[in-house]
Amino acid sequence: MRDLPDPTTYDTTLERVAGYFDGTATQVWARLTSDAPVSRIRATVRAGRDRMRAAMLARLPADLRGARVLDAGCGTGAATAELAARGAQVVAVDISAALTRIAAERLPPGLRGRVQFHAGDMLDPRLGRFDAVFAMDSLIYYAEDDLRRALRGLAVRAPQTVFTVAPRTPLLMAMWHAGRWFPRADRSPTMIPQDWRRLRRGLPGLGHIERVSRGFYISDCLELRP
Ligand SMILES: C[S@@+](CC[C@H](N)C(=O)[O-])C[C@H]1O[C@@H](n2cnc3c(N)ncnc32)[C@H](O)[C@@H]1O
Repeated sequence: MRDLPDPTTYDTTLERVAGYFDGTATQVWARLTSDAPVSRIRATVRAGRDRMRAAMLARLPADLRGARVLDAGCGTGAATAELAARGAQVVAVDISAALTRIAAERLPPGLRGRVQFHAGDMLDPRLGRFDAVFAMDSLIYYAEDDLRRALRGLAVRAPQTVFTVAPRTPLLMAMWHAGRWFPRADRSPTMIPQDWRRLRRGLPGLGHIERVSRGFYISDCLELRP
């Protein structure tokens, strides 16, 4: 039981994230993750995220036939489609039901037999065991202790977890401090920058793969192989 995330803080974050992505952010997120024109700032985020998705996918075998992969926090499903196209059986889970619906609509019809969508928590043990977990930008909102325990929860179900964190750069730390001045009700879920070396304490097998920095998108790709 020690390894389960602290329900008081983990669940509070999770509910806030779900409310945000199921509410005002649904359309913004759908647009950012499409080919539709976006502002210059958002275009840097889109380019950075494309680069990050490629870096993360490069950690997995090109041929995923026979593998069961969890797309943890699948959003609108960009990685889901790529994983399924490589032959994986994908469980695509997101706490936002609105985003899983968009992901299901966007999935090419030829891949539908390889993907199961679920609206819920990625840590739900009923999702079963996996050959790999792919968690892009979905664990970035959790406090360090919750993140560490969530990673342990994923690691008991999969030998490989590839995920991202926001690093503690001066820019991201300044944004984090600025975000704390807003009253809670007005805020989107706050990204919590992490020091990956510190995160490694108590998580043997955690390694740093790559930092992607494009304009307003700055993110570290990490991998846990316990
Ligand atoms: C920034 S979006 C990234 C979505 C997708 N991975 C991508 O890269 O396009 C973060 C997503 O993680 C989801 N999420 C956050 N915590 C989650 C949890 N505990 N279980 C399932 N989904 C979660 C959010 O609902 C949101 O869709």
